[in-house]
Amino acid sequence: MTDRSPKPEYDDRPIGVFDSGFGGASTLRNLLLELPDERFIYFGDNLNAPYGDKSEEEILLLAENAADMLVHRGVKALVVACNTATSAAIKALRERLDVPVVSVEPAIKPACEAEGDGKVLMLATVATTGLARYRALQARMPDPDRVINVGCSGIVDRIEKGVVGETDFDDILSEKLAPYEGMKIDGIVLGCTHYPFIAPAIKRYAAAHFTGERRLYDGNAGTARQLKRVIDSRRLNARPGCAGEDRVTFLTSGDHEECETIFRRLLEIPIHD
Ligand code: DGL
Repeated sequence: MTDRSPKPEYDDRPIGVFDSGFGGASTLRNLLLELPDERFIYFGDNLNAPYGDKSEEEILLLAENAADMLVHRGVKALVVACNTATSAAIKALRERLDVPVVSVEPAIKPACEAEGDGKVLMLATVATTGLARYRALQARMPDPDRVINVGCSGIVDRIEKGVVGETDFDDILSEKLAPYEGMKIDGIVLGCTHYPFIAPAIKRYAAAHFTGERRLYDGNAGTARQLKRVIDSRRLNARPGCAGEDRVTFLTSGDHEECETIFRRLLEIPIHD
């Protein structure tokens, strides 16, 4: 028999968020601001990070495991706070799960639509830049050739150790970005959720090596707005004022104590506006 009882006014279940590791904490910061009454369960797959150097099949499997675990814990919606997992697995996750799934994606659209004739540097994992979903997104841009894709292996490994200093990434940035030395760059897309944590390092490198506007873009604010739309439209909102102080439960496949210390620190440090 169909259940005809009215849908309850509020849904106090938490929202699940996952990433290969700490990167999704940059997304979570926006989610906490955009949805002040909600509680979150964050899963960092720190044991398996980085995803960005793995095959599409491996990333898909890891993303499915992470999502299943969170759904099993009773989340009412899921946020894929990992551009790499979005590229490899978003379609499969939406087909597989009964809860709504929102994801982060490289913010090349606002970067490409901004005024100027300078190039747009899209920094992301090697997997993201090569996968069909991202390639299709790039092809939809008004001038796809404006975008230069740079797969940046090595950055995530270092951030996973808790390293985020302004001068700590010059070696990797020089190695990856030397071919574009002196170029006019109007936009730099942080196409991996780990990268907002090292925005000062990227800005500093860009100021010394490129001309142009060098504006930074990431997809986190857009993801938070989309999650809010989904929660509102499906009437999944938590009861106002009930979230309490401790709104984030942290889970990891790595060492819990060590990882939670880094995670909580990253949730607090200043990042780019
Ligand atoms: N933070 C992730 C992303 O947005 C993945 C990084 C990685 O594990 O390589 O792509």
